[in-house]
Amino acid sequence: MFGRKLAAPLFIAGMTGGAPEAGPVNEKLAQAAEATGIGIGTGSQRAAIEDPSLEYTYRVIRDNAPEALVIANLGAPQFVSEYGRIEAEKAINMVDADCLAIHLNSLQEAIQPEGDTNYTHVLERIKELTQSSSTPIIAKETGAGICAEDASRLEQAGVAGIDVSGVGGTSWARVEAIRSRNRKRFDREQLGNIFCDWGIPTAVSTIEVATSIQGVVLTSGGIRSGLDAAKALALGADAVGAALPFLKVAKTAADIEEHINAFIEGLKIAMFLTGSRTIQDLQERSKVVILGRTREWLQVRGIDVMSYARGNRNI
Ligand SMILES: Cc1cc2nc3c(=O)[nH]c(=O)nc-3n(C[C@H](O)[C@H](O)[C@H](O)COP(=O)(O)O)c2cc1C
Repeated sequence: MFGRKLAAPLFIAGMTGGAPEAGPVNEKLAQAAEATGIGIGTGSQRAAIEDPSLEYTYRVIRDNAPEALVIANLGAPQFVSEYGRIEAEKAINMVDADCLAIHLNSLQEAIQPEGDTNYTHVLERIKELTQSSSTPIIAKETGAGICAEDASRLEQAGVAGIDVSGVGGTSWARVEAIRSRNRKRFDREQLGNIFCDWGIPTAVSTIEVATSIQGVVLTSGGIRSGLDAAKALALGADAVGAALPFLKVAKTAADIEEHINAFIEGLKIAMFLTGSRTIQDLQERSKVVILGRTREWLQVRGIDVMSYARGNRNI
């Protein structure tokens, strides 16, 4: 994937960097990613673009994971400026990245009192960047999901892949509600709570994106086990990421490694039980019975859930 061989189709989704405390966390996450052969994303590199003295808090990732798939990260609204291309290059070079994720976090920005909601030229700028960059560019949500229509527009703009990051895991509206409460901004706290589950659930978003683009499909948002990862792969993901679960065990690299190995073992068991010899078997031939609200959601969006149950879906 993006020029790197993964030992398992998993990655640690981008989280941190830009504060002195973040350096040791990234160091441990990177050590565990390297030891287990999975990918790793950086948190938004905005802080180090503005203050280069913080670059080391990100660079520790590549220093400790020389062979891993490393995904650089910048936010879309800030990237709208004419300097976007230069900043993207800086972010890529900072961690010798294999690809750069442009994150689309409109929900969080809308709830944040200081949020930046200028998305006017985002698609245009992403297109300019994909045309000028020799490193693949991917688009990424941060917990609210991406729909089929937006996925197609992003692919037309030249992105090499999409991380759906759907609803079901970390909620940035909820995080902003808590931050606002602590700052006694009760108006903002209320807004964060109202929108805390806004967006497209991860399972739905995975199908929407996988059925509408040719490029790489990454799934994150509430993936909490190897079984969840297997489900995402069976719905069309090429690789699966989790953020919060790895942060929770980030006391030592060995703890993170143990957690990753448990994920991989769970994925293997799901493959064994479904008779999937390869990841491709799981993606293309496993029978996925989609029920309840997810089925209803997909049906009203015009997706044929029966083809998944019969194992003859055409992704
Ligand atoms: C502490 C934390 C910090 C995050 N920071 C970023 C970030 O800087 N850039 C980004 O694209 N996503 C960021 N994310 C979002 C994750 O990459 C991921 O898309 C989202 O949390 C859903 O995954 P999860 O449910 O496994 O946490 C962050 C998530 C967490 C938990």
